[in-house]
Amino acid sequence: MWREESAERSLSLLVALLSICEWVCEDVKSAWSGGSAKTSHPLKVSTMDTFQLLILLLVSCTAASAHPHHPLSPCQVVQMDVFCSDLSLRNAPLNLPPDVQLLDLSRNQVQNLTLETLAYRTGYRHLSLHSNKIHFIQPGLFKDMTDLKVLNLSRNHLNVFALSKINIGPLTAVESLDLSNNGLYTGMSDYFLADSPSLANLSLNSNSITKIANSTFSGSFSLRKISLHNNVILEIEDGAFDSLHHLRELDLSKNSITCIIDFNLHNLEVLNLSKNSIEQFRSADLTKTYKLRSLDLSENKMPHFPLLPVESELEYLNVSRNQIQSVNNTENPDQQPNLECLRYLDLSYNQLSSISEEFFHCIHSLEVLNLSNNCISSFSFTNPKMLCNLRIINLSYNSLRSLTFRKNTLQSLEELFLQGNYLTTLDHQIFQRLPSIRYLELEQNSLKICAPEQNHPQPSPTNQSLKDSLDCVSFYSVKNLHYLNLSENSLRSVPANAFVNTPLKLLDLSLNPGLEMDKDSLSGLEHSLSHLLLRNNNISSLKTDLSTLRCLKHVDLSTNQLTTLPMWNKDASVESLNLQNNNLVTLDYSTILPLEHSLKTLYLGSNPLSCCSSLSFFHMVQHLSVVTPDIETVTCDHGDYSEPVNIAKVTPEMCQESDFPSHPITVFVILLVVLIVVGLLVKCCPLRKRKRNRSFSA
Ligand SMILES: *[C@@H]1O[C@H](CO)[C@@H](O)[C@H](O)[C@H]1NC(C)=O
Ligand SMILES: *[C@@H]1O[C@H](CO)[C@@H](O)[C@H](O)[C@H]1NC(C)=O
Ligand SMILES: *[C@@H]1O[C@H](CO)[C@@H](O)[C@H](O)[C@H]1NC(C)=O
Ligand SMILES: *[C@@H]1O[C@H](CO)[C@@H](O)[C@H](O)[C@H]1NC(C)=O
Ligand SMILES: *[C@@H]1O[C@H](CO)[C@@H](O)[C@H](O)[C@H]1NC(C)=O
Ligand SMILES: *[C@@H]1O[C@H](CO)[C@@H](O)[C@H](O)[C@H]1NC(C)=O
Ligand SMILES: *[C@@H]1O[C@H](CO)[C@@H](O)[C@H](O)[C@H]1NC(C)=O
Repeated sequence: MWREESAERSLSLLVALLSICEWVCEDVKSAWSGGSAKTSHPLKVSTMDTFQLLILLLVSCTAASAHPHHPLSPCQVVQMDVFCSDLSLRNAPLNLPPDVQLLDLSRNQVQNLTLETLAYRTGYRHLSLHSNKIHFIQPGLFKDMTDLKVLNLSRNHLNVFALSKINIGPLTAVESLDLSNNGLYTGMSDYFLADSPSLANLSLNSNSITKIANSTFSGSFSLRKISLHNNVILEIEDGAFDSLHHLRELDLSKNSITCIIDFNLHNLEVLNLSKNSIEQFRSADLTKTYKLRSLDLSENKMPHFPLLPVESELEYLNVSRNQIQSVNNTENPDQQPNLECLRYLDLSYNQLSSISEEFFHCIHSLEVLNLSNNCISSFSFTNPKMLCNLRIINLSYNSLRSLTFRKNTLQSLEELFLQGNYLTTLDHQIFQRLPSIRYLELEQNSLKICAPEQNHPQPSPTNQSLKDSLDCVSFYSVKNLHYLNLSENSLRSVPANAFVNTPLKLLDLSLNPGLEMDKDSLSGLEHSLSHLLLRNNNISSLKTDLSTLRCLKHVDLSTNQLTTLPMWNKDASVESLNLQNNNLVTLDYSTILPLEHSLKTLYLGSNPLSCCSSLSFFHMVQHLSVVTPDIETVTCDHGDYSEPVNIAKVTPEMCQESDFPSHPITVFVILLVVLIVVGLLVKCCPLRKRKRNRSFSA
């Protein structure tokens, strides 16, 4: 052992000498090359000496450069923090700055954690030793480290240490301890936690703990937050957390807990039980006040809504991905929890077939409600006093056929997700009555868009017959609507002026094959629309004039039957244009010219382009700084080639040759010119001869 150490020390000394050499060498080298500029060099020796010294230095320099990472200073030092990760170290370097506070030795080869590993310092505040091979810790190592607040030992082999049944000794000042990923199983954490009076934050994530015993946390009574994510906890002994008066957050996600029947941690604020096998969650005393603010019970097996205390401060409740069929309290239907503070409720991916308005009676503060992926067929809101703060409702992927929002309800609603339902009709002014609605997803339904004449005669309540006769939804004058997705609705037409007075920025009408667009379908959107999607609509010619849409930046016309490009004018600001998979043969250069300053991205693949008729278009595209991300698939047909040619390979020369025989008119014109020239020659030649003859005779 000693020999090894002294060998290491002498090696260090040698390396230190070499590094001095290196430094001097640098200076000499620069003096050598810098010439007169460096005449005031400190090494004032005779030329002979200099020469000898140089040779010596050069030799040592070569030696030094062969070891660029000398072990004394491989780490980065930033003020009082030293970073030595990923250096295959077994110990910290000995020459650490005296007042080092943070030492990062993560991702090295530390096996035996002793005072030597830490360069004999005890003044650390923060030690990071994760991802090493630590299997032994010198007992009592942290006793004198009275400033050490944060200790990260995750990703080591501390299970091996625990097998030796030795305590690491007091963690005098440690407030945050990470023991995650150490292969620890039940009882092993005791050797680390037995004497940790200051510990507030503990992670035991990703170990193999199966049981939380009464004694597990008895030496760490200051704990505020415990993370036990990703263990195999099956059992929690009664009273295991009782001594922890400061405990506020408990993460038990991804374990094997099957039920919580007497939840009694009145001071706990955050509880995560996601990804267990919980079938029942029940508070011990429904009448007592709990401080719980956040409860995550997602991905469990609960057939019922959890039994929550009547008075609670719960703000966040996630019961997504369970088997809940009803939100009613099955034990005592009259005792509904008073979820007065609840702001976020996720009930998605359950088996709810309905949810009554009464359920929301006491949830005044709710802002986000996710009911998606259930089997709700009808949803109605009639009471204007309920859910006044609701901003987002996600009702996507249910079996909704009917949806009703009465006048003055949901006045704060900004985002409504209704995609993937069976909606064919809606009260046609439904969206006009939601003054804050900004974002509307209606894709994958069977809705129709009302024409403006259906918008104007406001059906009075007495005029019931007119109201019933409307089987369309109006998007006229929805004052704050910016985003509208109507893709996959089997839409047949978009009537003229359908969106007047609605400040849409994005409109998706894709996947409505056979869609008829009126010339004025998009009028009213001139100063707002920036994204227009008309993919997969089987459109052969676009009747709508896009050139008036001055804000339009992104246009997707892919997968249609277009044979011509839409016309634009100088005011256009289109930045990306998708024309993939259409019927374009000839691309007229002049149609794209107005976009020369704005266009940045163009998709053109899968079109039956003809090489020579669009030559100037290709040329322009290559010269403008337009990116064609699908350039690999942009090919054109050329008579001389059996295979389609990539447009990047088309040259003007290829077209000159092939133009000649291929165009009958050109051939005709050329023939005509030749004939005329020949005719003129025939006429002129005898005249010249005569002239010459004349001059001879003269
Ligand atoms: C760890 O180091 C200490 C002190 O250098 C030594 O006494 C102990 O045997 C070592 N333990 C292991 C397991 O290598
Ligand atoms: C608790 O420790 C974990 C893991 O070391 C860390 O990510 C988290 O920020 C700490 N939290 C507090 C409040 O100190
Ligand atoms: C609960 O834990 C799961 C799994 O670790 C995590 O995805 C989820 O975000 C956590 N819930 C909360 C509310 O933080
Ligand atoms: C439920 O919807 C909310 C808001 O739209 C969202 O934040 C959340 O991720 C959704 N839940 C799931 C499980 O996707
Ligand atoms: C709506 O809920 C579904 C599933 O619960 C989720 O995938 C989707 O992201 C949610 N929508 C939003 C905008 O949060
Ligand atoms: C509209 O909805 C469809 C289907 O869910 C989706 O693929 C598309 O990306 C959405 N449009 C936009 C612009 O997000
Ligand atoms: C697409 O339009 C063509 C005529 O332009 C028609 O023959 C074809 O049936 C249409 N396809 C679909 C899916 O509507």
